[in-house]
Amino acid sequence: MRDDLTVAVDRVLHSGRFLLGPETEAFESEFAAFCGREHAVAVASGTEALRLTLVALGIGPGDEVIVPAFTAVPTAAAVCASGAVPVPVDVDPETAGLDPGAAGAAVTDRTRGVVPVHLYGRPSPLPDIGVPVIEDAAHAHGAPGPGGSAAAVYSFYPTKNLGGVGDGGAVVTDDAALADAVRRLRAHGARDGYEHVEIAGNSRMSEVESAALRVGLGRLTDLNARRRMIAARYRAAAPGLRWQTPHPGHVYHLCVARVADRDSFRESVPFETAVHYPRALTQQSGYARFTRSACPEAESWAAECVSLPCFPEMTDDEIETVCRALA
Ligand SMILES: Cc1ncc(COP(=O)(O)O)c(C=O)c1O
Repeated sequence: MRDDLTVAVDRVLHSGRFLLGPETEAFESEFAAFCGREHAVAVASGTEALRLTLVALGIGPGDEVIVPAFTAVPTAAAVCASGAVPVPVDVDPETAGLDPGAAGAAVTDRTRGVVPVHLYGRPSPLPDIGVPVIEDAAHAHGAPGPGGSAAAVYSFYPTKNLGGVGDGGAVVTDDAALADAVRRLRAHGARDGYEHVEIAGNSRMSEVESAALRVGLGRLTDLNARRRMIAARYRAAAPGLRWQTPHPGHVYHLCVARVADRDSFRESVPFETAVHYPRALTQQSGYARFTRSACPEAESWAAECVSLPCFPEMTDDEIETVCRALA
């Protein structure tokens, strides 16, 4: 994308407008349309997108927010940063998504929200437990949302399906009041000019980032199709490995198999692998204090998951090498 990115960045440099300008406005309307939602608000990161959504929903100190115990740590970190307490619950053994039954069992009179994570790009069910649902879609750009959530939050970390040239995130919602609140909260709580109606920090996205994301967004559908093709090849080559239950909306931010003897597997294959993620929240020293109930499925995923190379830039030969090794 380098040539197109160069043109986009150059356009911003020539405009002299670096924050909250026409690129961010255009990206927001293009991304909202892409997601099939009314509003998108661009912010500084995925973590900030989740934190600001929680704050905008009035969630904070004294409140509890249910999260899956197997996720990237920022899901829980954003809840903590809002002032609320993350309550980790177990995940489904076959999909790695939040287990709706476990979420229901974790509800208390302090529960104010639940954050299902579309882990690895596979759409997670949205639990119906009587509190606002905020989808953590950091892995799932282009995966059709099941509908019914208050908002979905995205990260544009450079390796994501839609990755930027730095940090970035977005809140996507059909709720105009929620979108307005996030817009205020991302820029010092200001409504118009210098009228500050609430206390907030700075979580803006740069115009350079927005311009780059517009380039990526134009290619996202094709790039997701290539990710799906790569994953389908691996799954066909190794039907004996344990995979997430298939889902037609899966966009394979990561293509993950479960392998009981992960270390030997990783040493034996002629390509690089990674682990997303080696610990459940219940096993993270900074977060174990939030454990309320055992999460054995989350911990099994953490012990066995291995991420195979899966990104659209892979050559056909590279894909074939992985398939041959898996077969
Ligand atoms: C599932 C999940 N949620 C949230 C985040 C946070 O996004 P960011 O790194 O843009 O703050 C990430 C980032 O890696 C993620 O993987």
